[in-house]
Amino acid sequence: MSDPKPTYLSDYRPPAHRVTHAELSFDLDPAATRVKARLHVERHPEREAAEPLVLDGEQLTLEAIAIDGQPLGEDEYAVDEHGLTVHRVPERFQLDTEVTIAPQENTALEGLYQSNGMYCTQCEAEGFRRITFYPDRPDVMATFSTTVIGDVEREPVLLANGNPVERGTLPGGRHFVTWEDPFPKPCYLFALVAGDLEKVEDRFTTASGREVTLQIWVEEENLDKTDHAMASLKRAMRWDEETYGREYDLDLFMIVAVNDFNMGAMENKGLNIFNSAAVLTHPHTATDAAFQRVEGIVAHEYFHNWSGNRVTCRDWFQLSLKEGFTVFRDQCFSADTNSAPVKRIQDVAFFRTAQFAEDAGPTAHPVRPDHYIEISNFYTLTIYEKGAEIVRMLRNLVGWEAFRSGSDRYFERFDGQAVTIEDFVDCMAEASGQDLSQFLRWYSQAGTPEIDAHGEYDYAECEYRLTLRQRTPATPDQPEKLPLHIPIRMGLVGTKSGEDLTLTLEGEQLGRDTVIHLREEEQTFVFSDVAEAPVPSLARGFSAPVKLRFPYGREDLAFLLANDSDGFNRWDAGQRLALLALDDLIAAHRNGVEKVMDPRVVEAFRSLLAQADTTDDKAVLAEMLTLPSEAYIAEQQPLVDVDAIHAARTFVKQSLALALRDDFLAVYEANRSDAPYAPEPEQIGARSLKNVALAYLVAIEDDAGIEHAQQQFAADHNMTDVRHALTLLTHSSRDDLSDPALRAFGEKWAHDPLVMDQWFSIQVTRPQSDALERVRFLMDHPAFSLKNPNRVRALVGAFAGQNRVNFHRPDGQGYQLLADVVIELNRLNPEIAARLITPLTRWQRFDEGRQELMKRELERIRAEELSPNVYEVVEKALAQ
Ligand code: TRP
Ligand code: ZN
Repeated sequence: MSDPKPTYLSDYRPPAHRVTHAELSFDLDPAATRVKARLHVERHPEREAAEPLVLDGEQLTLEAIAIDGQPLGEDEYAVDEHGLTVHRVPERFQLDTEVTIAPQENTALEGLYQSNGMYCTQCEAEGFRRITFYPDRPDVMATFSTTVIGDVEREPVLLANGNPVERGTLPGGRHFVTWEDPFPKPCYLFALVAGDLEKVEDRFTTASGREVTLQIWVEEENLDKTDHAMASLKRAMRWDEETYGREYDLDLFMIVAVNDFNMGAMENKGLNIFNSAAVLTHPHTATDAAFQRVEGIVAHEYFHNWSGNRVTCRDWFQLSLKEGFTVFRDQCFSADTNSAPVKRIQDVAFFRTAQFAEDAGPTAHPVRPDHYIEISNFYTLTIYEKGAEIVRMLRNLVGWEAFRSGSDRYFERFDGQAVTIEDFVDCMAEASGQDLSQFLRWYSQAGTPEIDAHGEYDYAECEYRLTLRQRTPATPDQPEKLPLHIPIRMGLVGTKSGEDLTLTLEGEQLGRDTVIHLREEEQTFVFSDVAEAPVPSLARGFSAPVKLRFPYGREDLAFLLANDSDGFNRWDAGQRLALLALDDLIAAHRNGVEKVMDPRVVEAFRSLLAQADTTDDKAVLAEMLTLPSEAYIAEQQPLVDVDAIHAARTFVKQSLALALRDDFLAVYEANRSDAPYAPEPEQIGARSLKNVALAYLVAIEDDAGIEHAQQQFAADHNMTDVRHALTLLTHSSRDDLSDPALRAFGEKWAHDPLVMDQWFSIQVTRPQSDALERVRFLMDHPAFSLKNPNRVRALVGAFAGQNRVNFHRPDGQGYQLLADVVIELNRLNPEIAARLITPLTRWQRFDEGRQELMKRELERIRAEELSPNVYEVVEKALAQ
């Protein structure tokens, strides 16, 4: 682990050698799997004959090497910790290598590893180099033929990419299957699975009549948890045909559920590998939110078959080319399948807390970074979610028809190629005839743009003048920023009529809802013929990933909450109104002054609750009745005071519950149901509305509320209701409520790791002061293991990321605990270790005492012998 060097985008060169076809064979063994590779290699036509062949390879033991059948002498090649160099090679040749690797020792979960005894692979981004010597870069695309040899008893199922073409038995209780993938692909899409698995099978007929077999492979005890993933897969396949004209291209599509997995899932060609948490669902083990997440991830990985696999990335700096586009695609799919406004509200609420925080911290980076030390640190909210916001802006800028035709061009022109973000944007520019050159800055400039807006209504002229000023704060390596092209979708809501007014801008009639384009640092838009004084509704639907400030009064916000024609902005007006009230209360808490609830918020909530019987989207109403999260409130504060935020938010919750107790109770009771569980929008909406109401009641320890929570827990109707009730009981200050429920739940589900993860998370996110001791205690629980990323996330990740008051304990013990875990994980699983540090990297946002304590822990980590992953994050965090 010598000091790791960055890779720069500006150093990109096409590969000197490419592989056109790879024949692999794996003789599986936990301690010494034998990997034979025959690579058909060609020199790049523009490269010199004298160039050596350089292949990536890590943690491989080379057993044999030959070129065109001739074994190489020791002076003809060299192996070091990064790979293999063959000094002299012909223009075109076959390279044969044989290596051994040890899957059972692989705790990093990159390359070939074992999970619960089964073998599986994870090759993105640079894991293939831990399997065999190869040019491990996405712009080398080859067809693969893979033979997997395993034990008949232990590994009855042997899977790889593509179609099975041959199978047979071998001496010694062994057998093999050979798979062929006819589509050229980069090696990061390679996959292999072997183990004792069972499958659920279904069929899909594509628009052009191709019959596709769909399989989901799981451990036997999970066979009853695949229905939802299968249904989601079929919906996604149909949706991509109908929306993007994209069909599936092989005869077989497989999904495998794996218990130990670093991320959500992986789009390997024809053989998607999923974290079991991202595929398995059952009404009794998974919540509505989990059902929806599974649907979104199944769709996401499936959509990659075109946006990522058929057309892939030239280099890892282009990662958002596939991820931003694919997230946008899965967001639209989920919006079409569920409540579209709720999907947008939830995505934006998450984005504005988590991505904005990333953009404001020491690891901020552009959607297309220009350098990195460890690429797996760049699977970030910026690459994924901000990348998706940029694609969404593009869709809105050029309109759906041009966007679709740009997408068709992109897939046709670049099929089978590894390309760049410009290639994608060029297709959109060509299809629309628009100049997108300024827009491209969104990809290269880090940081969240801030827009200060103000407006004035001129009664005499009937004009409304709206002035917008943009500024993007400095980020690491980028002190100066250029103005961006920012689309602002907006309306002017008449204060008399409560309706969107017709917009006329510079003589042009624009309808009642329009997009204005901010391109300069400052611009004034003059709307004429504005018949009445309006309140502007700006950045509707979150039309750009920016922070938009406008000096709204509380009456304005209450007005928009009641009248805005845009559902998203109605929700946002409510959030802004609550934030203003919370601001006052945070100040009161800090100054030791008595807290007083703003009656306008109470009245706003009263009118919302009055809509409960008549609304046609209960899920939206539930979102409107939900206060901004502590994390989002913190985002708005110049200096984060976790205790004041928690106290203020609790006070608002309790004040609302006291003032509107009967209304909440009525909403709860009206939305209970005994109907069999279905993860369908209407049921989900009713459940979320009911559960939001219950949370208010339990917040004031209302007797009826507590009784309902206990009954809901005991009724055991579905996990959404059970988990919610258990959370409310556990997060109350009454151990007599929480202890028996936790015990019952823990005993009932001791055999199911994914449910135990929920049990861990619920306990370690409780606001009571014993949370940290519970983390320590639960780390010794038999169901916990530091080697399993889901367990680590559920216990340590949830504590550090979601339990703000306890992680930020003034004695620094929360920070210490996290650093201890990071130091241990740095050796076991660097990818997960590096991700876990995130909350510590945000030290600049806290008071001096906490800053010192957080930095001390970062320095303690830095003193260790570090993986490149952890090194990069810690260095950035301390460089500030
Ligand atoms: N390409 C995957 C996705 O977004 C992400 C992924 C899965 C990944 N596993 C990984 C990235 C491991 C890095 C390392 O769908
Ligand atoms: Zn993806």
